[in-house]
Amino acid sequence: MGPFVYRMTPLERLVSVEDYRRAAQKRVPRLVWEYVEGGADDLVTVARNRQAFSRWSLRARVMTGHPERRLATTVAGTRIDLPVLLAPTGTIGLAHWHGDPAAARAAEAAGTRLVLSTASSWSIEEVAEGTRADHFFQLYPGGEHTASLMQRAWAAGYRGLFVTVDVPVIGNREGERRRGYVRAGSGISRGLALTPREALDVARHPRWLFDAYRHGRGSMRNLLPASGVEATLQSIEILYREIDRATFAWEDLQWIREQWPGTVYVKGVLDADDAARAVSIGCDGVVVSNHGGRQLDHAQATLEVLPEVVAAVGGRAEVLLDGGVRRGTDVVKALALGARAVLIGRPLIYGLIVDGERGVLDVLRILRAELDRALALMGVESIDELDPSWLRLQGVPS
Ligand SMILES: Cc1cc2nc3c(=O)[nH]c(=O)nc-3n(C[C@H](O)[C@H](O)[C@H](O)COP(=O)(O)O)c2cc1C
Repeated sequence: MGPFVYRMTPLERLVSVEDYRRAAQKRVPRLVWEYVEGGADDLVTVARNRQAFSRWSLRARVMTGHPERRLATTVAGTRIDLPVLLAPTGTIGLAHWHGDPAAARAAEAAGTRLVLSTASSWSIEEVAEGTRADHFFQLYPGGEHTASLMQRAWAAGYRGLFVTVDVPVIGNREGERRRGYVRAGSGISRGLALTPREALDVARHPRWLFDAYRHGRGSMRNLLPASGVEATLQSIEILYREIDRATFAWEDLQWIREQWPGTVYVKGVLDADDAARAVSIGCDGVVVSNHGGRQLDHAQATLEVLPEVVAAVGGRAEVLLDGGVRRGTDVVKALALGARAVLIGRPLIYGLIVDGERGVLDVLRILRAELDRALALMGVESIDELDPSWLRLQGVPS
């Protein structure tokens, strides 16, 4: 008998989101990685989002006899097979040419949904055509495109609208600024400022370069229906200009609420009073989010704010959360503190970079398996059972 040895492919060795993160980092040039992984200022909030999860311990009951767990729920009236959605992330055509449709299809295959970004690399219509299910649309409101984006999204079959309100100005992402990405107000498309070393780094990623060159998917096709380097730079400028001019206020949110026939979620809420106000003007849900630590550095971790928001909303609307969700146990904790579901941002991009649609699906499968395993080990049958009694603050006796 020969030795009990078999070969695993490099992809089979990726068994966690962190594995995907490391594999993804190797596959793209640094300038792309900085866009994906970066955050505001000193990345304090990026770190806090993660740390907040480790402050909680999980209670575990034994011999509860549940051979299967129930992970399904609904968000905005849409049934999802697991309480994890794909967060809106702009210009993911830079991660993989098939960016947004690949993510939407992976979500569909996993029984969940993508929230398509305003700044997507593929247009609202292209993503709708490439998928069967309805998906959700994220709106950067306040600019000249607001009304037409809403009309297009509704016409293309999107029914849930996520209005992102935490970008009155763009956060200070220094990694991006050092690369000379176009800044608002500069008035000119200067492109990327690459040092010889950075150019070499790009050249060391021929697969990415070929992909990017061949498909030119860095532009935001909702804002400018063209592809290629020039279109990429122009669309970044359009987006930045819209955002910097935006004086979006509560009355405008109310207008959106009145105009949009479907459900409206407010994304980027970090304050209980704001959450209550959003509900009082008829929003269907709030997303507790600090934009993955890419906007206000030193903002609170989302998990830390969640209980106050849940209390203020008082069951009148759905509360979702994103920021730093990387494990099934993170999902358990967010749900136990009152979130209906969570969203993942960077993990979806790690999956895309590594293996396109299959990579995103695998990331979702990993999180699903981890969530299921955690519930089994806790002795919980359904995510509906989760409440704060399943958590203990670390180091605090119960
Ligand atoms: C590269 C990147 C692009 C993003 N683009 C958008 C966007 O276009 N619209 C938006 O509402 N949020 C955007 N976000 C924020 C995400 O929707 C989400 O709030 C955040 O990524 C969650 O944190 P996580 O990355 O730790 O999961 C982006 C995040 C990243 C990492």
